[in-house]
Amino acid sequence: MLKRLPLYPLTTEVNREGHLVIGGCDTVELADEFGTPLYIFDEAGLRNKCREFREEFGKRYPEVSVIYASKAYANAALERIFNEEGLGLDAVSEGELGIAMSAGFPMEKVYFHGNNKSQRELELALKWHVGRIVVDNFRELDMLEKLTEATGVKQDVLLRMTPGVDPHTHQYTSTGTLDSKFGFPLPLKERAVERAMKVRGLNVVGLHFHIGSLIYETEPYEEAIGFILKFAVEMRKKYGLELRELNTGGGFGVQYTLDKPAPPISFFAEKITSAIIRGCKKYKLELPKLVIEPGRSAVAKSAMALYAVGVVKEIPGVRTYASVDGGMADNIRPALYGAKLEAVLANRMRARDAGKVTISGKFCEMGDILIRDIVMPKLVSGDILAVAGAGAYSLPESMNYNAFYKPAVILVKDGRVRTIRRRETLEDITRCDIL
Ligand code: LLP
Repeated sequence: MLKRLPLYPLTTEVNREGHLVIGGCDTVELADEFGTPLYIFDEAGLRNKCREFREEFGKRYPEVSVIYASKAYANAALERIFNEEGLGLDAVSEGELGIAMSAGFPMEKVYFHGNNKSQRELELALKWHVGRIVVDNFRELDMLEKLTEATGVKQDVLLRMTPGVDPHTHQYTSTGTLDSKFGFPLPLKERAVERAMKVRGLNVVGLHFHIGSLIYETEPYEEAIGFILKFAVEMRKKYGLELRELNTGGGFGVQYTLDKPAPPISFFAEKITSAIIRGCKKYKLELPKLVIEPGRSAVAKSAMALYAVGVVKEIPGVRTYASVDGGMADNIRPALYGAKLEAVLANRMRARDAGKVTISGKFCEMGDILIRDIVMPKLVSGDILAVAGAGAYSLPESMNYNAFYKPAVILVKDGRVRTIRRRETLEDITRCDIL
């Protein structure tokens, strides 16, 4: 199990009792005190990752903004940390904008995204003076035209383009191909620029693309950059578009399992920045400001999820299931994307492996499997499992199936613990029902 430790948050170690430790806190004690399932974020790891992004891109390119894609996990306490570390924020809904507001996040550093923004959401974005709206479609342009006319606001926008690039990731997280609900469709890209440039209340400061998520290659980014710079030159000639800002989205892959390493941030930074510098030279463009929008890669590794093992069911000659007290309701990624995860036995880190076991959840679905056939010590009821890479897209995609109470979330640092989201209760579950 010790060989899996590099998949865990930066400060993870094993203490003398053989317990897993994070941020100076014994996970067995944390499970005892806060209950399970429990999501634990490592503050040092989070801050370190923010700095890595800013440094790796910043040292290779003159002007860079790192925007945290808050869909990966929108939490006010974490957003304060991102602000302190100099990051901006990507929000895609009234709710995500509202969380940013509640964190006191500077709205001029917020990029408002979404493929079907409502009138009310656009009104809010204008009222709260978000830094950029990333326009996705013609209807949105129409709405923004009316709203800016009515309010007299002049709003900076980017236009989201579909570059027609396949990032070779799961179909559900591939967004930049021709057949995509996101962005202006390829055949209409020129009309989008022509139309947007005519809206008096909008200031088109640049272009955006986001080709997908959990991407392990850099070629798709380079291809998309080539596409967008060529397009930008044409649009400058035809409609006077000045590419002052280029937003290349997020999508950087992370390592969830030992057998699937991801390139380091420095590699993505090198390939992306050099592709822009090369392309701008070729097309005689001034270097635009570069904006990147990491979500997963900013937070995934800095959290682990603790579960308690309940029933261990051995089906002779078939399989052993160890059911934990969470599962698909707090982490739907394995069920939805076939995501692979790794786990360790937090209370017996030095125990010997005994064989394969399947980690199942407690929900009424056969697809409720967190990890299939992982090699582990023999599990017994009461064991504490720690799943790695739990920081992104687990909590925000969690649900109340079987009236599950969504887990508590804590932040640890130097032996200190802060609850950043309390566990739900029956009251939370029944609050919206009307008798
Ligand atoms: N920018 C835009 C416009 C996005 O739509 C996304 C993610 C990001 C940035 C951040 O991408 P990241 O760096 O996190 O890959 N639930 C899925 C992933 C959905 C990604 C949605 N958009 C999963 O668990 O794999």
